[in-house]
Amino acid sequence: MKVYSIAIDGPAGSGKSTIAKILSERLGIVYVDTGAMYRTVAYYCIKNGIPTTDGQAVAEALKSIKLDIEMKDGVQHMLLNGEDVTAFIRTAEVGQGASDVGTFVPVRDRLVEIQQEMAAKISVVMDGRDIGTVVLPKAEVKIYLNAHVEERAKRRLKEFELAGKSCSLEEVVEQIKVRDHNDMTREYNPLRKADDAVEIDTTGLTVDEVADKVLEVVKEKTGEI
Ligand code: DC
Repeated sequence: MKVYSIAIDGPAGSGKSTIAKILSERLGIVYVDTGAMYRTVAYYCIKNGIPTTDGQAVAEALKSIKLDIEMKDGVQHMLLNGEDVTAFIRTAEVGQGASDVGTFVPVRDRLVEIQQEMAAKISVVMDGRDIGTVVLPKAEVKIYLNAHVEERAKRRLKEFELAGKSCSLEEVVEQIKVRDHNDMTREYNPLRKADDAVEIDTTGLTVDEVADKVLEVVKEKTGEI
């Protein structure tokens, strides 16, 4: 079967990973979570006292980072210098750190290369901020998910609560606004919708409704399903 790619981009909490997981299961292709790679670099910096906003220090730290991605039962595990850090990278602090290190050219160039290598060999659904624009500009399907900031914050809050962390909705709204600004205004490959991406506003839609819309686009563009 032909190797094909599905690129999903959008801001924090727009539903990218939920939809990517559904597509991965339905289509039997690998889900690549690129945010987890930026999070792993940020986690290394935070753990080693390196400020995630210091470009030179982060570039230097990159030399000490060996990043491996392992797929176990369809779940992506991030290995940092051989240690599985998957369980530690989903905090708000690491999320903001990932947004910070993602502004630096050496970090982006290194991670984009890994992502492109993965998609060259196998069919993937990959989510992130620059997938349709930079990583996989020739992807057969490009989706841009969006939603109002309050709704995105409510989704993130639910995830935090499920993970046993407490914070207020106002705090999460603020965190998301900072991240949106950072991700959309960085100089090098900012978050933006690719010209040929299909934009879906997920505000007020259920997961099933969004999945149906996306699957319709996949069917139309690839003939798969
Ligand atoms: O999708 P996420 O919340 O796990 O991503 C965390 C941060 O990583 C995000 O705010 C910006 C950065 N990122 C990026 O710059 N490019 C990507 N392709 C994926 C994530």
